Amino acid sequence: EYGWTGVNECTFIAVKPDGVQRKLVGEIVRRFERRGFKLVGLKLVRVSEDLLREHYWDLRSKPFFSGLLTYMSSGPIVAMVWQGLDVVKTARKMMGETNPADSLPGTIRGDFCVEVGRNVIHGSDSVESAQKEISLWFGHDELQCWGPSSSRWVY
Ligand code: PPS
Repeated sequence: EYGWTGVNECTFIAVKPDGVQRKLVGEIVRRFERRGFKLVGLKLVRVSEDLLREHYWDLRSKPFFSGLLTYMSSGPIVAMVWQGLDVVKTARKMMGETNPADSLPGTIRGDFCVEVGRNVIHGSDSVESAQKEISLWFGHDELQCWGPSSSRWVY
């Protein structure tokens, strides 16, 4: 029997404004569904620079910080929470590298973009940052606990 720990793990995924404008939302949702993950939160939001400043606080001294905030507030974002076994790590693999030029074909960035400043998708980089990001972007009442408690078959 495989380990049953980590199945309730959640990650925060955002389709960035360029991904929404390029109509990639359905494609991205489809990939997570087909992989076997469970959607527990989803909304289309236009967020303030204040929220983004908090979200990207660790990057505040980077030269691209203000450009990143401008980009991320330039249009609506699809914010999502996905749940499942090792979802944080697996989602990062599905996304590809931060710089799309280093991303293999078959990954989201490897298939759909070329530039780091327009890289279509964000995903939490650790379980700890996922928890922080989920509570920053979502209220408790926006997250659903649904489906059979024992849905092992999806894995
Ligand atoms: S770093 O420099 O190693 O801390 O950056 P990294 O962890 O790879 O990326 C953190 C987020 O910053 C975005 N990023 C950029 N945006 C615009 N321009 C440039 N040059 C750039 N470099 C990195 C990158 O997409 C990451 O954002 P998220 O939303 O987490 O993907």
